[in-house]
Amino acid sequence: MTTGDIIYGPLTPIYDVVCGAMLQPGRRRALAHLQPAAGERILEVGVGTGLDLNDYPGCCQVVAIDLSRAMMARARQRVDADQAPRVEFLQMDAMRLGFQDAVFDAVYVPYTINVVPDPIAVGRELVRVCRRGGRILMLNHFDGIPETSNAVNAIAGRVAGAFKVNWHLHAATFVRELGLRPVAIESVNVPRLSSIVLCGKD
Ligand SMILES: C[S@@+](CC[C@H](N)C(=O)[O-])C[C@H]1O[C@@H](n2cnc3c(N)ncnc32)[C@H](O)[C@@H]1O
Repeated sequence: MTTGDIIYGPLTPIYDVVCGAMLQPGRRRALAHLQPAAGERILEVGVGTGLDLNDYPGCCQVVAIDLSRAMMARARQRVDADQAPRVEFLQMDAMRLGFQDAVFDAVYVPYTINVVPDPIAVGRELVRVCRRGGRILMLNHFDGIPETSNAVNAIAGRVAGAFKVNWHLHAATFVRELGLRPVAIESVNVPRLSSIVLCGKD
């Protein structure tokens, strides 16, 4: 049993109730920013219960990874029959991606970069597997984005901290440490606690 199974496995039955509809506008906007194109190979990291798998355009291939078998089992059930042949599921730790360098056109990381123990180590793996000229999109709470510094932020941060969420990842510092080029930043959801950070790999 992996850490993912221990922490996220028991959450699987309630995950969609707590984090489904409320966070879905952010997922939709994220895919609109990512703009998967015909023939592209996209890596989705921490796919969870697969809440956005049916929103990818039919022209791209998706490799979806997660530590938790239970979360991915739910994701498999969710994928529409016509989308299923284009989605591959792999149980994998984002800290040690089992892919060669530069094999993906884009990497998408929804609500996951701030639940891993070492976001920089994961970030380096994302950069490694993305090709030059490719995109990396992270969606979660980041510090340093003015729109997300609202009244709910401090309370949400305390609650998130109790669940071991790294609430104080600073967007600009994180992107700079990974050597990425910021392309677009947009705060999303109500209240605006999450942000889309789209980067390019030069
Ligand atoms: C907060 S959930 C987000 C799920 C989904 N992306 C969403 O939009 O709701 C975080 C997910 O990341 C997975 N996860 C946590 N640590 C991971 C790691 N080191 N490698 C791969 N997946 C991980 C968890 O199992 C869980 O499914």
